[in-house]
Amino acid sequence: METLENKSSKKSSSHEGYVLVTGGAGYIGSHTVLELLICGYNVVVVDNLSNACEESLIRVQTLAGRPLKFYHANILDEQTLIPIFEKYNIWAVLHFAALKAVGESTKIPLDYYWNNVTGSLNLFRVMERFGAYNIVFSSSATVYGQPDIIPVNEKCSLGPVTNPYGKTKLFIEEAIRDMCAANNKWNAILLRYFNPTGAHPSGVIGENPRGIPNNLMPYVSQVVQGRFPFVKIFGGDYDTVDGTGVRDYIHVCDLATGHVAALRKLKTKPGCVAYNLGTGVGYSVLEIIKAMSRACGKEIPYQITKRRPGDIAVVTADARLANAELGWYPKYGLDQMCQDLWRWIDSNPLGYPESSNEAKQILQQMSA
Ligand code: NAD
Ligand code: UD1
Repeated sequence: METLENKSSKKSSSHEGYVLVTGGAGYIGSHTVLELLICGYNVVVVDNLSNACEESLIRVQTLAGRPLKFYHANILDEQTLIPIFEKYNIWAVLHFAALKAVGESTKIPLDYYWNNVTGSLNLFRVMERFGAYNIVFSSSATVYGQPDIIPVNEKCSLGPVTNPYGKTKLFIEEAIRDMCAANNKWNAILLRYFNPTGAHPSGVIGENPRGIPNNLMPYVSQVVQGRFPFVKIFGGDYDTVDGTGVRDYIHVCDLATGHVAALRKLKTKPGCVAYNLGTGVGYSVLEIIKAMSRACGKEIPYQITKRRPGDIAVVTADARLANAELGWYPKYGLDQMCQDLWRWIDSNPLGYPESSNEAKQILQQMSA
């Protein structure tokens, strides 16, 4: 039987050293790890599995036909990170690990500040100690607060941000900017994602549902699956095409290629630069519901309710800086995002299954 180790000898790495991916078992991280492996990078993943499971990485290895190294570890734990940096020649870190639910962050802010901010600072200290000065940070359009200009560009003012989750993103960005200003060995790319959605076109990896979703696409998906009776549309009286809120949805595989483009850019020693990752095209909530309905061939019931506090009418990205400087262009449109999302949820209605002990052992052996 062909094993992943056998396959990997056919598809070997074309890059020296390792890229450490924190939070690599999660939604965006797993799609990015796949893209990294396909592009020939050597990858070490650190994830505490607080919002993920091993199965995503087992599937990523199979899709890529190349192995990765995995550590079930917490970025808050310096004593776990140090041996990983000692063992691998880590030249860059893609830092996804974070808690990410806006609503939850207002209920347990301390957990969010501790995990996201302290975890990041801890990671940066270990990176500095080992001379690993290249970082790509998962930021968010949320750092713009109520944007001055639409589409939002990177020169727009930042904040104020109203929820603890968003504040952690802004704070970490500030910390990275200060680190880069103080020491020119640091190179940082801050990727501000707009509204990630979709799944890998294979339908094999995607976003693992947990709890009641805050975000539109995961909520619509659960209505399609019959878990909720209808989509509550937060406001039908905005000054938009049909009165519902407009956002810039971006396919998770486009985000993955954005990270690879950012890694290439780090090699040119850019200092600290922020890039928006979005398509520049906005869709309303009703347009999203219609597109998802086309993709799954089902009617999706909805009701228009009152506005959600903190929401604004339109947020879209000006991503021309990423186009020009990273050579990155998103290639997926809305219909493909919905079709890929539907393929994932239709083939994995409960998300990832619990991995077998055998599968977990295979993953652990990869890191031995
Ligand atoms: P996710 O929850 O699927 O992935 C985050 C991963 O980090 C999970 O696998 C989780 O187990 C891991 N993790 C959390 N805390 C950790 C810790 N202390 N140590 C080790 N691992 C830890 O989320 P995602 O949607 O893939 O988001 C990835 C990143 O992108 C996050 O930083 C998030 O804030 C950011 N982001 C996400 C969105 C979005 O809509 N999904 C939008 C903008 C920015
Ligand atoms: C939200 C967060 C933002 C975070 C981003 C990605 C808020 C105020 N903003 O942004 O900080 O970075 O998610 O995690 O929470 N909608 C409905 N019904 C729903 C859900 C959403 O009508 O059940 C609407 C919203 O009003 C909005 C659009 O759908 O117009 C998209 O909402 P959402 O997916 O939550 O993303 P953002 O509001 O852009």
